[in-house]
Amino acid sequence: MNRISVMKPWLGTAESEALAEVIASGWVAQGPRTAAFEEAFAQHQHVQHAVAASSCTTALQLALIVAGVKPGDDVVVPSFSFIATANAPTYLGARPVFADVEESTGNVTADTVDQVLTKKTTAIIAVDQGGMPLDLEPLRKLCDERGIALIEDAACAAGSTYKGAPVGGGADVSAWSFHPRKLLTTGEGGMLTTNNSEWAARARRLREHAMDVSAAERHDSTLAPQEHYGEVGYNFRMTDLQAAVGLVQLGKLDAMVLMRRELAGRYREAFKTVQGLRCAQDPEHGTSNFQSFWIEVDPGFRLDREQLLEHLASDGISARRGIMAAHRQPAYAGHSGTVSPLPVTERLTANTLILPLYHELAQHEQDRVIASVLNAGGG
Ligand SMILES: Cc1ncc(COP(=O)(O)O)c(C=O)c1O
Repeated sequence: MNRISVMKPWLGTAESEALAEVIASGWVAQGPRTAAFEEAFAQHQHVQHAVAASSCTTALQLALIVAGVKPGDDVVVPSFSFIATANAPTYLGARPVFADVEESTGNVTADTVDQVLTKKTTAIIAVDQGGMPLDLEPLRKLCDERGIALIEDAACAAGSTYKGAPVGGGADVSAWSFHPRKLLTTGEGGMLTTNNSEWAARARRLREHAMDVSAAERHDSTLAPQEHYGEVGYNFRMTDLQAAVGLVQLGKLDAMVLMRRELAGRYREAFKTVQGLRCAQDPEHGTSNFQSFWIEVDPGFRLDREQLLEHLASDGISARRGIMAAHRQPAYAGHSGTVSPLPVTERLTANTLILPLYHELAQHEQDRVIASVLNAGGG
């Protein structure tokens, strides 16, 4: 019985050929392919500027800096997210303050954020959890009224939509991940997007040590212009090797979303009458790319979450616990940013699990997963 993994990136010969071309060109660091990937990504996401970075975590740091977040500020984040969301403000000396999430999407809302705003709040990082689109407009209104920056952590959400448009464009600045656990992958990699030209220009400099003439520009000239460093920057660059893979992957993104939505629909159909299981589904305001297909296991089901994971594993199926809660990790033990209870976060992090879902998941493999879950439920 072969093992079914929880995810697998969709990579092929087109990516290998793109890599071979970059190697043959002799320019493997950040350069023309990165610029082409940025342009193509901005177009795909309907935003004016895209700035490639080494990861979503570094893109989030750049986003906070260009949005003006300073040491000592409070930044509202969901605890119910990969820990990088909380870490980004921490790196800058700001305090992540945890907001709870709504149960239907696993995302923060204007209400949950409003409950934890403080006098020191200067930004919110709202996450499209597992690709599930945020309800952005109420958050936009809240931020505009309070004069705080709205940052969207769209790490998982390339290909998801909000009110008919790609997610990410309605925030002041958004950050994306191209880790292989996402749909579009470059191995490691990230992107910052914004419609603010000044923020984009500053992020572009900051990711490359804040130099005012890029390495690629200097390389292109025989007598390289003198560069200057206006502030302390970082090495958060993407390489052209990554960007070349990203360009190919971007061309496949729409097909990936279509396939994942079809597979998610098959899961939902199969489990719709199972007692005690709740499946991830599109909210009214948008469509998910189903980067993660999660189910919530409640007491009506015969097994609890841990038992269901073990049952699946014994059938050769690799599922995963659902989204973590940062406030429960030792890294945030004793942290002062848990200012109010997080009951929905606690419940979802304890009871959800992620089922296998990826582009090349064959129907007979998905049927095996479905049969295993149905057997576990006594169905
Ligand atoms: C919501 C969220 N934010 C940030 C990240 C960090 O992304 P990266 O690994 O590209 O830094 C992840 C990665 O899983 C994520 O899920």
